[in-house]
Amino acid sequence: MKIYAANDYKQMSRQAANILSAHVILKPDCVLGLATGSTPIGMYKQLVDWYNKGDLDFSQVKSVNLDEYVGLAPTHDQSYRYFMQTNLFDHVNIDPANTNVPNGLAEDPEAECRRYNQVIRDLGGIDVQVLGMGHNGHIGFNEPEEAFELETHVVNLTESTIRANARFFASEDEVPKKAMTMGIKSIMQARQILVVVSGEDKADIVKRAFTGPVTPNVPASILQMHPNVVLVGDKAALSKL
Ligand code: F6R
Repeated sequence: MKIYAANDYKQMSRQAANILSAHVILKPDCVLGLATGSTPIGMYKQLVDWYNKGDLDFSQVKSVNLDEYVGLAPTHDQSYRYFMQTNLFDHVNIDPANTNVPNGLAEDPEAECRRYNQVIRDLGGIDVQVLGMGHNGHIGFNEPEEAFELETHVVNLTESTIRANARFFASEDEVPKKAMTMGIKSIMQARQILVVVSGEDKADIVKRAFTGPVTPNVPASILQMHPNVVLVGDKAALSKL
């Protein structure tokens, strides 16, 4: 594993954007595996800046996102499709037809997961998968479990996640109860994994994930078994490594 320690969030975002840019420059039709959440926002902003300066061309790039809520329309401001549109896709020349996020409105979410697995296979796999990390070590919506779930699947959100998300919705009834997420196998098959972490509150889980035992109780710990992981974090998040 390669570790890049940045002084702060801004530098971390720039470093992570540099790594994604290298993929886009070296392989213009690369497949980027993307994540939502607060950590990669600065990285997307940096990519948009470089695109505006003429340094990046996304015209042949393909993307697959990690996850999406079941039941949310792509236009809902809490959907992950909306996040990707507003943070990246709407600001660069990526072909909308080349961007993939599970369809939150699919009538049969299980069938949608199977379709999504086929999309990833048809793209020839993922060149680089961006991952943030939850405080419990979750990656995508793969929460601590007894076993690793393999490919894209439907997850029931825990009561605590539903409660935590409630602040983003008009009422608790509107909070999605399920999500679709790439599984551990889909993630592990990416040719490179780019983990982004920021903030002191991530220091404990970064330590557990990368120096503790490999266990489905800490889903990110499986990344120790991946041959090409790049961890980019600010000093605070890496302080316990
Ligand atoms: C996002 C995702 C999540 C986040 C994780 C960290 O698509 O799947 O696993 O990466 O919850 O979120 P932040 O970056 O907000 O700390």
